[in-house]
Amino acid sequence: MDTKWEVIFEVGTEGGSLGIYGARVGKDKWIFSFSRDESTLMDFMDNDDARDLASLLRSNSGIVETLEEAFLMMDRYQWSKLRLLDINPHFVEEILDIISRRVTSPKELRAWENRNLPKRDNISRLARLLRESYHTIVFTGAGMSTESGIPDFRSKDGWWKNIDPRTVASTEALNNNYPLFHEFYSMRIKGLEQCKPHIGHRILADWEKRDIIHSVVTQNVDGFHGAAGSMNVHELHGSIHSFRCHSCGKASCREDFLGNKVCSVCGGKLRPNVVLFGEGLPPRPWNDAEKGISRAELVIVIGTSLEVYPANMLPFMAKGKIVVINKDETPMDDKFHFAIRGSAGEVLEKVSKLI
Ligand code: OAD
Repeated sequence: MDTKWEVIFEVGTEGGSLGIYGARVGKDKWIFSFSRDESTLMDFMDNDDARDLASLLRSNSGIVETLEEAFLMMDRYQWSKLRLLDINPHFVEEILDIISRRVTSPKELRAWENRNLPKRDNISRLARLLRESYHTIVFTGAGMSTESGIPDFRSKDGWWKNIDPRTVASTEALNNNYPLFHEFYSMRIKGLEQCKPHIGHRILADWEKRDIIHSVVTQNVDGFHGAAGSMNVHELHGSIHSFRCHSCGKASCREDFLGNKVCSVCGGKLRPNVVLFGEGLPPRPWNDAEKGISRAELVIVIGTSLEVYPANMLPFMAKGKIVVINKDETPMDDKFHFAIRGSAGEVLEKVSKLI
């Protein structure tokens, strides 16, 4: 049977082109060859490279078994400066993976994509990344819970648009204006009684059970990931469902806090176990999150403005792909491989239908 060659990837200028061609030789097996129309392309490489390439092509007759090897041959040219002439739709993602290993940042990769590729469907891209990644972490913020009816912090109707956080959610407020501190957290705790996890939380829990994701790292204190069934949850900013004495640390309970009692041991002020402005993050969830994310092949960031340090640094410790799902732009959008604009629940539902 004749080998049928097709274009996999072709770049060029007016005077010449570089191409990778492929032929299917088995169910999932392809072979690739690299070819060049060198009339003007010598301008894109130095003479030593040209000699090396000539001997490389002679020595392996130009046929290789992986796309990566074909790109290695093309790397002798500064091919990323050339215009994309053709790309095989079947290989787009694999080619982008290969390119991503050759550029220094997601921003550079996105610039190449924007220059060369038509706009793509990021929902199917995310579904594909999820299917292929062995270690995926989801990183959430307050936007994950707005579809449950809980306000976030920095959107138009967010908490911090109406109240200065330092007056209600800081160690200073706790120490110097306990009635206001107490009123604010009592309101938030009681507000949660009317709310429950939504479809997006449940999808993440289901993905964890099916080993599609590994864990959830969250800045949220509402406990909705756990309530929806997620087991592996790292709560960076603590939980609003447990309580302690601010002075001696003794564990307390919701009733005593809401009832405005004082610590039964030392008479100190009671508080929820959330991180207040002016406090450091609890080391255990931070260390677990850092360990997980640094190994991650994929991190999906959902519903956070990424304005709060140090949690906002974590997603970028990933060695793999980073994708954001958010209603609005974030100041860090440039650092992601791609961004999906939309509501957490709606986007997760669409993605889950594809995996
Ligand atoms: P923010 O309020 O700063 O950001 C929430 C983000 O979610 C915004 O960018 C919204 O556009 C987006 N958003 C809102 N609803 C959404 C939805 N349904 N789907 C997708 N995106 C949506 O909240 P965080 O980034 O979580 O800290 O804030 C970080 C920390 O700041 C909080 O943990 C809290 C706060 O001060 C502490 O209390 C210590």
